[in-house]
Amino acid sequence: MAGTTTILGLESSCDDTAAAVVRLKGDAAPEILSSIVAGQTALHADFGGVVPEIAARAHTEKLDHCVETALGEAGIALRDIDAIAVTAGPGLIGGVLAGVMCAKGLAAATAKPLIGVNHLAGHALTPRLTDGLGFPYLMLLVSGGHCQFLIVHGPQDFTRLGGTIDDAPGEAFDKTARLLGLPQPGGPAVEAEAARGDPKRFALPRPLLDRPGCDLSFSGLKTALLRARDAQVAEKGWLTVQDRADLCASFQAAVAEVLAEKSRRAIGAYIALSPSEPAFSVAGGVAANQAIRAALQTVAAEAGARFAAPPPGLCTDNAAMIAWAGLERFRLGDTDGMDLAARPRWPLDRASQPMLGGGKKGAKA
Ligand code: KG4
Ligand code: ZN
Repeated sequence: MAGTTTILGLESSCDDTAAAVVRLKGDAAPEILSSIVAGQTALHADFGGVVPEIAARAHTEKLDHCVETALGEAGIALRDIDAIAVTAGPGLIGGVLAGVMCAKGLAAATAKPLIGVNHLAGHALTPRLTDGLGFPYLMLLVSGGHCQFLIVHGPQDFTRLGGTIDDAPGEAFDKTARLLGLPQPGGPAVEAEAARGDPKRFALPRPLLDRPGCDLSFSGLKTALLRARDAQVAEKGWLTVQDRADLCASFQAAVAEVLAEKSRRAIGAYIALSPSEPAFSVAGGVAANQAIRAALQTVAAEAGARFAAPPPGLCTDNAAMIAWAGLERFRLGDTDGMDLAARPRWPLDRASQPMLGGGKKGAKA
């Protein structure tokens, strides 16, 4: 199999247990031979968030089965794999440890190399797997646990231009849904309501737009939404169906406008590097939102940059992105030893300050 690399990837840093097989043959486009994701939503439903101990135990129980299914769907055996890539952080440490121990067991049993992947690098390198983007490109990671702008120079080389100073936008969507009696996860529910609402009815704030730079903030927006809801209830004693749709539309418009304006600034900083083929990419669960996607696409077009948004299943947590990030490093001869450590925090850009605060879904990098 000269010129062919096949990597098994494992992911268990939050509440999805995942295994995948990715193959690259010579100069052809990479292939995802299988991608298995076993979610844990039902296990955490009664607790209003991810319970780390429950998540870690579930990962330990599900990992072997996910690996077996991923190999089976790919139609290959463990001996056909060139290396085993695993998320080694950042994330909920019990889950990360479960993945790293499983990967070490597989590596020891098969004498295959082990590659510890940064979960955020997995997200950030996905547009190379799906759209073949060349370095350097600009990336907006926007999900329930992450929100940051990165210039991706290479598989291990990232410059962080800015990010949230408090909540991630997905957390704000989820909270908005809770405040308005909509189901979880909140993003799709809020988006569906917003489609019938008036985005101009409630004047919600556009946090940090008045400050230079690419940092973002979403906790104030959440509070403003709560006040707007309470004002309606105080005025007439209840919230109408139209009030709810208008609140969702106004909230979504505020998030989209802030993300678009900060993206404009980030693209400005990126274009200043004179990339030969400018490209702006977005990943993470919130990137599934059509209004936000459209706003970001417009910003990219205005700047003359190609816009690449991976399909939703590869924007949210998965192991194909981990296998791919491992493959990029494997091809550079860069692997880890059995002393690979699980890390709760692991900033991508070693020169930038780590973010403070844990976040609902685990540590933010
Ligand atoms: O990337 P992801 O699956 O998990 C992590 O947070 O790492 O993202 C999940 C988040 C949730 O907060 C969810 O409400 C949000 O992404 N989300 C959306 C949409 N679909 C998912 N937010 C806005 N609009 C959507 N259509
Ligand atoms: Zn993630």
